[in-house]
Amino acid sequence: MIAARALTKVFHDRKRGEIRAVDGLSFDVAPGRIYGLLGANGAGKTTALRLLATLLRPTTGSATVAGFDVATQPQQVRARVGFLAASTALYGRLTVREMIRYFGRLHGLAEPVLALRLAQLADELELHEFLDRRCDKLSTGMKQRTSIARTLIHDPEVMIFDEPTLGLDVMAARAVVRFVRGCRDRGKTVIYSTHVMAEAQKVCDTIGIIHRGGLAAEGSLAELQARYGETELEEIFVRAVGLEAEPRAM
Ligand SMILES: Nc1ncnc2c1ncn2[C@@H]1O[C@H](COP(=O)(O)OP(=O)(O)OP(=O)(O)O)[C@@H](O)[C@H]1O
Ligand SMILES: [Mg+2]
Repeated sequence: MIAARALTKVFHDRKRGEIRAVDGLSFDVAPGRIYGLLGANGAGKTTALRLLATLLRPTTGSATVAGFDVATQPQQVRARVGFLAASTALYGRLTVREMIRYFGRLHGLAEPVLALRLAQLADELELHEFLDRRCDKLSTGMKQRTSIARTLIHDPEVMIFDEPTLGLDVMAARAVVRFVRGCRDRGKTVIYSTHVMAEAQKVCDTIGIIHRGGLAAEGSLAELQARYGETELEEIFVRAVGLEAEPRAM
């Protein structure tokens, strides 16, 4: 459903010079699976997800999403993808209902379809209680649920989530995780970035550890555990990116 091939994005920064934010990244995500991208700050997660969502063009390499090329068929990709960015913004003066409907119309949904989707998402994400509240009066958790609803209003096959639980409390984060797994169980394909090891461990069918723009390790949790002889994902992560030399201090 998602295939990245030697995907590379080079930024040219006046002060820092050439930055290879994503560097030869290749991976596949099978339909109906959750793929977790795990990486340190600056590892290239957001850039990789933005390339897949067609918000950036690759410098070299390629990627397809739902069979369409991100560089040459961006419209087709966008119609099939919901992208939740860490910076996905809401319009403060609109109510939650208005906000979600606005994005539904942008996607060209007909009124009856839009009404149905809104009702579905309000049930799944438990939005009913604050559907008619203005977005600037919402808590962080409510805002995030609203952002997810607006990202998925067109019922995309592929969901791309950049750190969807950032800043959420335990219960709110669990609700988001439960929702993401529910989407997977209904056949959606999900790619998900996070820093939270426990979450990746719980949610992801496959984990890709990204370091300096490329994959340092990839596999199911069980495969990674076997390969590194460690049970904790955090230890696997540290070993994979080579940040700590062995043996571990007692
Ligand atoms: N528009 C840009 N122009 C220049 N450099 C950029 C740009 N966007 C990202 N970078 C650089 O690319 C590298 C990767 O950044 P990216 O945001 O993809 O990392 P990340 O893994 O999402 O990090 P975080 O966990 O902090 O969100 C960083 O060095 C960053 O400074
Ligand atoms: Mg990021």
